[in-house]
Amino acid sequence: MCGIIGYVGPQQAVNVIVEGLRRLEYRGYDSAGVAVGADGRIEWRKKAGKIANLDAELAARPLPASTIGIGHTRWATHGGPTDANAHPHLSADGRVALVHNGIIENFALLRAELTAEGVAFSSETDTEVAAALLGRALARTGDLAGAMRRVCSRLEGAFTLVAIDAQDPTRVVAARRNSPLVVGVGDGENFLASDVAAFIEHTREAIELGQDQVVVITADSVEVTDFAGRPVGTKPYHIDWDTTAAEKAGYDWFMRKEIFEQPRAVADTLLGRYSGSGELALDEIRIGPDELRRVDKIIIIGCGTAYYAGMVAKYAIEHWTRIGCEVELASEFRYRDPIVDANTLCVAISQSGETADTLQAIRHARDQGSRIVAICNTNGSTIPRESDAVLYTHAGPEIGVASTKGFLTQLIACYLLGLFLAQVRGVKFGDEIGAVMDELAAMPPKIQRVLDGADDVYGLAHQLIDQGDYVFLGRHVGYPAAMEGALKLKEIAYLHAEGFAAGELKHGPIAIIDPGMPVFVIVPPAGRDQLHDKVVSNIQEVRARGARTIVLAEEGDTGVDAYAEKVIRLPRVSTLLQPVLAVVPLQLFACELATALGNDVDQPRNLAKSVTVE
Ligand code: M6R
Repeated sequence: MCGIIGYVGPQQAVNVIVEGLRRLEYRGYDSAGVAVGADGRIEWRKKAGKIANLDAELAARPLPASTIGIGHTRWATHGGPTDANAHPHLSADGRVALVHNGIIENFALLRAELTAEGVAFSSETDTEVAAALLGRALARTGDLAGAMRRVCSRLEGAFTLVAIDAQDPTRVVAARRNSPLVVGVGDGENFLASDVAAFIEHTREAIELGQDQVVVITADSVEVTDFAGRPVGTKPYHIDWDTTAAEKAGYDWFMRKEIFEQPRAVADTLLGRYSGSGELALDEIRIGPDELRRVDKIIIIGCGTAYYAGMVAKYAIEHWTRIGCEVELASEFRYRDPIVDANTLCVAISQSGETADTLQAIRHARDQGSRIVAICNTNGSTIPRESDAVLYTHAGPEIGVASTKGFLTQLIACYLLGLFLAQVRGVKFGDEIGAVMDELAAMPPKIQRVLDGADDVYGLAHQLIDQGDYVFLGRHVGYPAAMEGALKLKEIAYLHAEGFAAGELKHGPIAIIDPGMPVFVIVPPAGRDQLHDKVVSNIQEVRARGARTIVLAEEGDTGVDAYAEKVIRLPRVSTLLQPVLAVVPLQLFACELATALGNDVDQPRNLAKSVTVE
């Protein structure tokens, strides 16, 4: 959601900022804007729609030369996606320009207060209220950082604020509470941004910011204080993603590129975590063995795709550790008074590490005494920082809004965590762990084999393009895989798709099966899995009602052929690991179908990459 960038240094600010905004596009937005400080004035341009509209505006009305500025891509919350509501917003006296990510929950009250004082607003946003407060505080104090701290103390909700003062062309001031912000440390230039993608082409050195902090950057300094103005220590880190990882490399979409990167992403996530001696080494899990042995309940928390990864993890972790494991949507978790205590291990799954619901959920669990392990793809993000331990997935930057390699690597991290807990608790021995690890190590070439069949899946997407509804069925770990397949189609093809537990079919969902409706069925491995024959019966049931059955079954499973309009073959693998392969054709199908429909696959309508407000 909303992308933010601030810059000060020797380069033309507008160029750095607009380029940075382009790299933040993937977060999701519906308007964009930029402001620079020049000759004691703030100059700004902002437009509804894509950055191309802002480009056109800048071409028609160029901004003056300046080496300081801020920019924003907005995902509408308060007020529609119009030019007027786009950021930056200016204070009433025009001295301050402000961009903002988050929601200021008490904005109506503040707006009424300012209106009563005679302030007129030109937008419907909560941000303009903050800009007005900032301008008023600056007029009194003459110091933007002090004014920022004063304003923050009046705001409720989640916010990242980044501002410049027309009368001080040397510093950009920002604040954060419950919303992302990182500092990029350059050579004679510095950056502020929602995430590192915005400045990675300029520097790979970054600084994490904590909650309730204010940061002031000049071209050669970074100063961080808390909201009371006390200096706080900072945590610098090196970004190991390279710039090319955030390029399309000849693919039409980031999503397609990311699907094809999955063999490497899975291999990287496994790298260095197993020695081959039967011993899993997860040094990152900095929770002592005694404490892990005391765990009597695991709660996995996530949203969307991360939640489905958690559903798969539940089957594996319970099976391997024999510890009861619940999976919960982060947005529901803290509002139902969950039973969590010091013996509960909370596992938070988040690709971005910034999802507001997941963040609030772990805070709630931590307040009840639970230890938190994050599974995350984004170094320096908030969720890992607020967790006791973090298991990083090494997927590299995921730009497409629809998560693909994020999901597969989350599954791998969940398997590793489950095996590690089983190892610590002594319920799995080295040879058993080694057998699963060998199977995981063999996954990248198997994923590649599925990818090698992409043309076949693309053909299917073109055949099935004109259907209104799509059903996905699976049992056991095939059930969350089916849900994930349906989610991909909803997100990028805007088609009605539902994932069901195949065993539930006769309890209701079978009523929606119309003749000709495409039904994708994920079949468990043949012979070795007791559910195989039951799923084959489910295929027959929908087939008997006229459904077009697309069956994902393992190589050599000829038992499904008679009931399938189309069989997609999956390499042999044990049941618990099958989602790693089964989801890949469903990702390819959704990507191709959405492309054929002419949709923007990487930035689907209404969606944001990281959902930083509740
Ligand atoms: O960054 P997170 O993993 O916390 O994001 C969670 C969901 O918002 C995310 O998985 C979303 O459902 C994706 N767009 C799915 O493709």
